[in-house]
Amino acid sequence: MKKTWWKEAVIYQIYPRSFMDSNGDGIGDLKGITSRLDYLKYLGIDVIWLSPVYQSPNDDNGYDISDYQAIMEEFGTMEDFDEMLAAAHERGIRIVMDLVVNHTSDEHKWFMESRKSKDNAYRDYYIWREGKDEQTPPNNWGACFGGSAWQYDEATAMYYLHLFSKKQPDLNWDNPKVRAEVFDMMTWWCEKGIDGFRMDVISLISKTKEMPDGEIHGLYGDFGPYCTHGPNVHKYLQEMNEKVLSKYDIMTVGETAGVTTETAKQYAGENARELNMVFQFEHVEGDGKYGKWTDEKLPLTTLKKTLSRWQTELYGTAWNSLFWDNHDQPRAVSRFGDDRPQFREASAKMLATCLHMLQGTPYIYQGEELGMTNYPFQSPEDFRDIESINAYREWCKEGPLSHDVFWPCLLYKSRDNARTPVQWDDSAQAGFTTGTPWIAVNPNYKEINAKAETADPDSVFHYYKKLIALRKENPIMVYGSYELLLEESEELFVYTRTLESERLLVVCSFCDHETTFAVPEEFAGASCLIANMGNEYGKTEMTLQPYEAFVLIR
Ligand code: GLC
Ligand code: CA
Repeated sequence: MKKTWWKEAVIYQIYPRSFMDSNGDGIGDLKGITSRLDYLKYLGIDVIWLSPVYQSPNDDNGYDISDYQAIMEEFGTMEDFDEMLAAAHERGIRIVMDLVVNHTSDEHKWFMESRKSKDNAYRDYYIWREGKDEQTPPNNWGACFGGSAWQYDEATAMYYLHLFSKKQPDLNWDNPKVRAEVFDMMTWWCEKGIDGFRMDVISLISKTKEMPDGEIHGLYGDFGPYCTHGPNVHKYLQEMNEKVLSKYDIMTVGETAGVTTETAKQYAGENARELNMVFQFEHVEGDGKYGKWTDEKLPLTTLKKTLSRWQTELYGTAWNSLFWDNHDQPRAVSRFGDDRPQFREASAKMLATCLHMLQGTPYIYQGEELGMTNYPFQSPEDFRDIESINAYREWCKEGPLSHDVFWPCLLYKSRDNARTPVQWDDSAQAGFTTGTPWIAVNPNYKEINAKAETADPDSVFHYYKKLIALRKENPIMVYGSYELLLEESEELFVYTRTLESERLLVVCSFCDHETTFAVPEEFAGASCLIANMGNEYGKTEMTLQPYEAFVLIR
């Protein structure tokens, strides 16, 4: 297996709107990020994945870009960006940009031209079709944020495709001019000195020419089979690699919803000339009852099976990302751990242990290193996220489910859970802003905040710091092979890693009661690398506390 810096790195995701506000307008910004780089340096991360900071009307918080070469006014200026990049580099931290090129904003100049007339020079930059008739879109596909995936446009009496909101029209990647524009824009950023790209929904860029109705899933037809891993996706990524990526020492990660371990080898194979790694969702999806919505936890055996399959099938052939949460997922500790006060810290540390000891590049989503939790939403008005707002309307107000059935699902899975401001200290608004934050601060900030945790050597923060440091000293964490033990256990997640003669045993309790565990003979007397509570690690018959986790090395 090739050794590379991005396999050895730990990535930290920043969602700028909610990270740190420098000027009291309630919105996080670039100067705010710069002011917290020392905190990130202290934590020890190597790379920042920066969610979009480009100019955007914010229909989907920056994932709808109206100018790829300008900074969103609310976040600052290009000078602020350059300052932030330089300050990060001074600290040895790299910055990976979010590249959102499956679609633009409808306020991007390309689209404003495109919609004007059928013979406009930009017409073919987007995907236009005639309706079946005046009232009926070209097919039954539903958009990810609700409604039809087609929007009727009066100027030319045709429909345009938008797999997300109607303010996010899909680009036509089959048009070589579109590809050339995107590659030029990427080159411009690389020349600026950025360190890579996280590619938003990149598995969707190539659509099948025929666009038949999809199988009805929920309320609309599924576009999946006709847009995910479409006919030319690998061709276009290889072209991107050849024209841009291969020219720079950068890191690339593709958000590849729907990818399998087989197709991952095409996107991010050791010898494939496309991307460095995939970011896939099998372990965080598959629990949905109503589309993605549910209020139920996945059984541990299912979670282990999925994670283990990715561990073994990619070993030595392709590279994966490791994550429990991001800006599109609820908070890890509330979902996979236990956010009740008596278990929050232990389960947050346990989850961190479980993830960072796996093979792949670990991602920490802002606030995860503090054990931040889901937000106690009180009413539908509390939500800011377009997906949550539309889902409540479609499934509940206008749809088949009662408030009582859908509400717990929204509480459990809304993306806004991850988007409440980072809790910096115990002052008003958790030190995030001196003004009124754009989305409410979680009321638990008095106990859970960076100031308290950096001062407490036993905190979740210091546990993450230790895990990151261990990765630098123990190549086995990066390059070791994986084996699952106790496959059938609904309580314990236990696995080994092996690199030459070295072995790790990783033991994580996912339950809220005591359990027993028999340490395999070969680890009797092995030393403990890290643990989230005290126990006797030389023993073979052990009683584990709720959410206990430890790693033995021999
Ligand atoms: C990705 C982003 C998500 C966004 C969507 C549309 O899944 O992570 O936040 O809403 O793409 O760009
Ligand atoms: Ca601000």
